Amino acid sequence: EKAGFDHFMLKEIYEQPKAYRDTMGSRIDEAGQRIVLSEVKLTPQQIWDIHNIHIVACGTAYHAGLVGKSVIEQLVRIPVETDVASEYRYRSPIITAHTLVIVVSQSGETADTLAALREAKRNGARVIAITNVVGSSVSREADDVITTWAGPEIAVASTKAYTSQLIAFYLLGLHLAQTLGTQDAAAIQETIAALQKLPEQVEQLLGHAEEIKQYAEQIATHDDLFFIGRGADYAVAQEGSLKLKEISYIHSEAYAAGELKHGTLALIEEGIPVIALATQEQLLEKTVSNIKEVKARGAQVFAIAFEGNHEIAKSVDLVFEIPRTLPLLAPALSVVPLQLLAYYASLARGNDVDKPRNLAKSVTVE
Ligand code: F6R
Repeated sequence: EKAGFDHFMLKEIYEQPKAYRDTMGSRIDEAGQRIVLSEVKLTPQQIWDIHNIHIVACGTAYHAGLVGKSVIEQLVRIPVETDVASEYRYRSPIITAHTLVIVVSQSGETADTLAALREAKRNGARVIAITNVVGSSVSREADDVITTWAGPEIAVASTKAYTSQLIAFYLLGLHLAQTLGTQDAAAIQETIAALQKLPEQVEQLLGHAEEIKQYAEQIATHDDLFFIGRGADYAVAQEGSLKLKEISYIHSEAYAAGELKHGTLALIEEGIPVIALATQEQLLEKTVSNIKEVKARGAQVFAIAFEGNHEIAKSVDLVFEIPRTLPLLAPALSVVPLQLLAYYASLARGNDVDKPRNLAKSVTVE
């Protein structure tokens, strides 16, 4: 059942190219020019009437929602807020008939996410669910459902479900953009072409898993580390940090790189590992200056950057290169080495990778 892999998590990491392909599937037309999201029944008029968007989810799905916010805001310029479901449902969120609520849940059964969905509907919002389980509670109660075709996810730590949620956000963002005309046809085609290259690019970087394994064995002896990044890199940093914590039990924190100097820099000392996500080219110069701040205080910096980025390579101790794509799509590649990092660090520490302590796959209680 693990198809020759030692753990479900590793199998699921390697299933990502297929999950990307299946989730894109027939949702891109044959000419690669348009998104065909027929399961979203919102009419063009209803899309025009959207004033704001709330994305609501828990854990890893919440982190997909953070990427979703930057994707939608960039593509369609509609304000998006991303909330943790357990906060959203109790904070009297300002929901109107012009609010689109997007709930994200692998299982479709998470109690807080389901309660947030109900709260949104009670307030008259239209709800789209992004879920991996056909027929789940969330899928039954939402107005529209975008199914992620990642296939069953067994490991407690979510990998292919998360990346398929990213693909779903790219498709939805493009669908909204082509309806509203906020991106021209050429830009949409360029993004679609880059999306279609992702599965092969994931395969390419999985071929370098050994480099990550070696680095993971190094960090497995540490008790604390940091992830830093800006923009979409910050969202991925948060997911990388969660993944590492939940299965390796190494404490880590994800920081918006520019925010470090407002307190957290006090924790940077000789030898501490800092993992810097540096794919967002328009922010690179700023990220490099944050890398210099931590290096000056003795941090050992491991960067994840696009191949051939010499500026980053010369500023850090070690760099893991990912294939080039549009900055918007970078999270779908940059998270993969972080999943492998968590996996190999957990293994090096002798933990139960697929069933980490204290955690359950599906959280159906508050
Ligand atoms: C982390 C993880 C959890 C889930 C969260 C939401 O790897 O798996 O953080 O993402 O419990 O679960 P779903 O997506 O089923 O609502």
